[in-house]
Amino acid sequence: MTKTPKESLTILTDIVLPGESNPLGNLFGGELLARMDRACSIAARRHSHSIVVTASVNHVAFNNAIPVGSVVTIEAKVSRAFKSSMEIYVDVWIEDRESQKRSKVNEGIYTFVAVDKLGKPITVPQLEPETKLEKERYEGALRRKQLSLILSGKMNPADADELRALFIG
Ligand SMILES: CC(C)(COP(=O)(O)OP(=O)(O)OC[C@H]1O[C@@H](n2cnc3c(N)ncnc32)[C@H](O)[C@@H]1OP(=O)(O)O)[C@@H](O)C(=O)NCCC(=O)NCCS
Repeated sequence: MTKTPKESLTILTDIVLPGESNPLGNLFGGELLARMDRACSIAARRHSHSIVVTASVNHVAFNNAIPVGSVVTIEAKVSRAFKSSMEIYVDVWIEDRESQKRSKVNEGIYTFVAVDKLGKPITVPQLEPETKLEKERYEGALRRKQLSLILSGKMNPADADELRALFIG
């Protein structure tokens, strides 16, 4: 079975309360990570119809601070499925109160694994990207998986052919 990224699309919209802020009055990073993790886990579950666990936070960029009172929208979608693991891309937006114009403040890339009731990895459906952005993210996902496995000591860099090709052409 093959699925598309939009089938896993998960959108969480919430406000930033004072108790979730740092001393500068901006959203605490750990709170944002938790919200992103929740959205990604729902997207992974929608794709796999299984129990899913976070295997890795591959990348997070806190590009802009998010002030208390902001309305934050987190959008997560599966960007590639491998055997039991899925890469999830998550984009974070805030909206201007008056104009309602959205601006992107942050993004992250998570890896989730589908597991059975005993926590053993199980096979997930493959993913067929549709849009230009989905195809770009799909294309880069194998290299990011290899990098994540190398950094966690689970892969020998000599075996990461696709990642090496990025540097030596
Ligand atoms: C994630 C977990 C299921 C992986 O189990 P494992 O015994 O390493 O299983 P495998 O080696 O077969 O790996 C399963 C898949 O995860 C991928 N994977 C494992 N670690 C990874 C990492 N750091 N980065 C990217 N992918 C990773 C493997 O490449 C494999 O992918 P594939 O099947 O699509 O090819 C296991 O480590 C676990 O349960 N961890 C705890 C998860 C958890 O509790 N998370 C909550 C936050 S604490």
